[in-house]
Amino acid sequence: MSGLPQVQHVAIIMDGNGRWAKKHDLPRVEGHKKGAETVENLINYIGKYGVKYLTLYAFSTENWKRSEEEVSALMSLLAFFLEDKRQQMLDNKIRLRVTGRIDGLPKEIADSIYKVMEETAKDYEYTLILALNYGGRAEIVDAAKKFAEACISGKISPDSLDEAAFRQYLYLPDVPDPELMIRTSGELRLSNFLLWELSYSEIFVTDTLWPDFNEEEFRRILENFGKRDRRFGGRK
Ligand code: IPE
Ligand code: IPE
Ligand code: MG
Repeated sequence: MSGLPQVQHVAIIMDGNGRWAKKHDLPRVEGHKKGAETVENLINYIGKYGVKYLTLYAFSTENWKRSEEEVSALMSLLAFFLEDKRQQMLDNKIRLRVTGRIDGLPKEIADSIYKVMEETAKDYEYTLILALNYGGRAEIVDAAKKFAEACISGKISPDSLDEAAFRQYLYLPDVPDPELMIRTSGELRLSNFLLWELSYSEIFVTDTLWPDFNEEEFRRILENFGKRDRRFGGRK
């Protein structure tokens, strides 16, 4: 879009659903439902800004600590989202990918994820990555395990390990790092999100609660991103 910077990969910590519900005197699950609508809108407009990859933090490895009622409501919403948005993803040429421990999710959900991932991988322009049962530390630990196994089987030697080689063991090694990471609801922390990949991302925190996040704000964030001086540790 003219006048706006090109951002290939945007990652978002979608936070504040619970507080939105509280503010409107509704049960927490209503906040999550409204948050899912924000996702639906976002995937409809983000393509026109040239964003090729969108990663959404939907469920962390720590979110299992929430009440059984909330976890099961979140899983039901996810199952509904996968079924309901399947066609929208196919129509909009969006490929679904998942980062996280897929096999730690309830079996019906994991099956449905594998199905939609396969269907949408054939013909696509954009990639929607859902971070599900995702933890940044878990990702690094899982990568270290895979690396150790490759060493034991003699495929690689520890001496040959460097950052580029280690990246190959992460969940989605071919996906470029996000240039921009947005967190809603004002919290100034990473909450175990993409610890490796966010090393040099520009961070933008907005007080807006996720269910209230909209295109106008997304545009403003992109404008702000365009004014940032990304130095990667160097100096001109
Ligand atoms: C984010 O909203 C959604 C998930 C973590 C699944 P929260 O549920 O964390 O909302 P707050 O932080 O309690 O407002
Ligand atoms: C991060 O939000 C996880 C997701 C948005 C899925 P949380 O609400 O779980 O994070 P904390 O508890 O505020 O750190
Ligand atoms: Mg939260």
